[in-house]
This record gives sequence, structure tokens and C-alpha cells, in this order.
Amino acid sequence: MDQGAMKELVGKRAVEALVKSGMKLGLGTGSTAIPAVRHIGFLMRQGVLKDIRAVPTSFQTTIECEKWGIPLFTLNSAEIGGSLDLSIDGADEVDPQGRLIKGGGGALLVEKIVAYASAAYAIVVDESKLVPNLALRFPVPLEVIPEARVPAVRTLEALGAEVVLREAVRKAGPVITEHGNLLLDLRFPRPVDPSALETEFNRIPGVVENGFFTRLPPTVFVGHADGTVTSRK
Ligand code: 5RP
Repeated sequence: MDQGAMKELVGKRAVEALVKSGMKLGLGTGSTAIPAVRHIGFLMRQGVLKDIRAVPTSFQTTIECEKWGIPLFTLNSAEIGGSLDLSIDGADEVDPQGRLIKGGGGALLVEKIVAYASAAYAIVVDESKLVPNLALRFPVPLEVIPEARVPAVRTLEALGAEVVLREAVRKAGPVITEHGNLLLDLRFPRPVDPSALETEFNRIPGVVENGFFTRLPPTVFVGHADGTVTSRK
């Protein structure tokens, strides 16, 4: 089974295992989360799922929900009241303790707000995302306000990070997030403590949020090349 098929399958399995009628759902971003969103839309059209209220984590997710008629709210809507029953999202890396790197798609800010407002959190990944240590292979992103770019890079380099400003594709210059900010991608030459860094990064003036997600922990659904899906808490 190729990676695309694994992503389709794992998203569907997570939805079938966890999503129930009446739930307030956080819906993630990326090529693994979107098949889960579509499957929720499909089950709503079939009448299998009813009374779903969703909070999307990005424009990508919003547009997909609009296509499927999934009712959309914000965390601040009276219908949501600031908390969710369950969120389903993808990840760029997952370590053995269920700590994550997220933000490869640039949506980490709302993804984290939604994740930390959720009573239950499910991550859907293909097996290539499982790693022994975070941030050695895939960079951890930081969202930073434009005015803080150079001082933030200096501080991060002093912490041992190799820092790259994320460049846009088919637009000259850097990626601008949905909140008007820049993204810095950080790699580390040796294993780091993601739990400590999640807090430390956010103390740097101008850093809005970072892509270490360490305080949950999620139920992780993993799609494998042999066509099986495993899950672990
Ligand atoms: C977006 C994310 C995505 O969930 C993450 O990048 C994984 O994406 P994909 O499933 O496409 O590999 O955090 O900000």
C-alpha cells in the first residue's frame, strides 16, 4: 500500500473508532487529516453521523468542511463554549511517548489551541512519521511575528538550533501564516527535550507558538504499508 492509501485508510479508521453523533469536533490540517474530514462529511451525508459541530484548524480544513456541509464554528462560538469533545489531526513526527511535531502545513497555531481545548485527541499518521527522537529529521516550526525575526533567530541559535526562515512556493519571499506571521524551521544536531523546549520557545519575545505538542497525550492511529492500522494511547 502506498503512502497516499495509508493516509486515506488511517483517517477513516480513526473516525469510525471515535466520532459519535452530537460531538463537538476539532478538525486538523494536512494530507492525512483531510481524508478524516471527508469521511465525517460522507457519514453525515449518509445520516450515520448527526449534530456534528466542528472547529476547523485552517483555511484548508474550512474549505473542505464547506464542500461537505459540515457545520463550522469557532472555539468562541456559543455552540462550542471553548471546549471540544475530540480533535483529529495529523503530525509530522511522533515519538514513543506520543509527543509530536506539528506545523509542516503551517497551521500549528490554531492546531495547538484546538488540541489543548479538546477532551480527547487523536493523531492520524502513516508509519513513516514514527521516530525515536523528535526534530532530528523533520524541523520543528515556530510562528513568530515579523518584527521579532532577527532577535528570535539569534536566541534560537544560542539554544543550539539550526534555523531556516520558511520560504513560500509560487510566491516570492517567506511564507506568511493565516495570522500574518513568519515561520522559522528549527533542526537540532542532537536529541533535545521537546517538553522543556515547548515551554522555553514560547518565552522568547515575539514567538507566538511552536510545533512541539507534548502535553496531551494523544491516541495515535498508524497506517502501515501492509494495509493494517494500529492504535496506541
Ligand atoms: C499542519 C500539520 C499537519 O498535520 C502535519 O504537517 C502533517 O501533515 P501531512 O498529514 O500532510 O503529512 O501539522 O500544520
